[in-house]
Amino acid sequence: MVYDNIVLIGFMGSGKTSVGKTLSRLLYKDFVDIDSVIEKEQGSSINEIFHNKGEAYFRELEQKCIDEVSKRKGQIIATGGGLPIFSKIPPKSLIVYINADFDVILERLPQREKEKRPLLQDEDRARELFVKRIGKYEDLATFSVDANQKIPVFIHVIVDYVLDQRVL
Ligand code: S3P
Repeated sequence: MVYDNIVLIGFMGSGKTSVGKTLSRLLYKDFVDIDSVIEKEQGSSINEIFHNKGEAYFRELEQKCIDEVSKRKGQIIATGGGLPIFSKIPPKSLIVYINADFDVILERLPQREKEKRPLLQDEDRARELFVKRIGKYEDLATFSVDANQKIPVFIHVIVDYVLDQRVL
């Protein structure tokens, strides 16, 4: 299999964006963050989109955005935590699951980062969402990495795996 792009999936706050930026430097590939592209295109934050247009509208934007971004090849693409649940990831993507436990995520996410995420405001509901979603992340993953430690500890595991694959 020759992959077009590397797509990072995982729950909110698991570190997809930070991992993506580091990977892009190490592998000399462009980095694209789907949430940031959407915010830029809409001229509004994720919170504002959820609040003013609703979640269903945001999910449509996610599908359009990943389809559009995936027309280019050789990129590292970070997705929002709900994208793999509601959208179809283009077939020639090498999907890496950034697999961190819920409590680890909560503990290491700064307050200002929690505030940016509408679905993380109620801890009990977020925990339920986590339990509901992990099966789907596991099913979709080409490769899953234990992300419960700091990025420098596990990043080389992803790099080694990717270097063994054929990614354009
Ligand atoms: C969401 C995750 C967020 C963002 C939005 C919805 C989700 O991205 O897309 O708040 O449904 O899990 P992160 O995974 O980067 O937090």
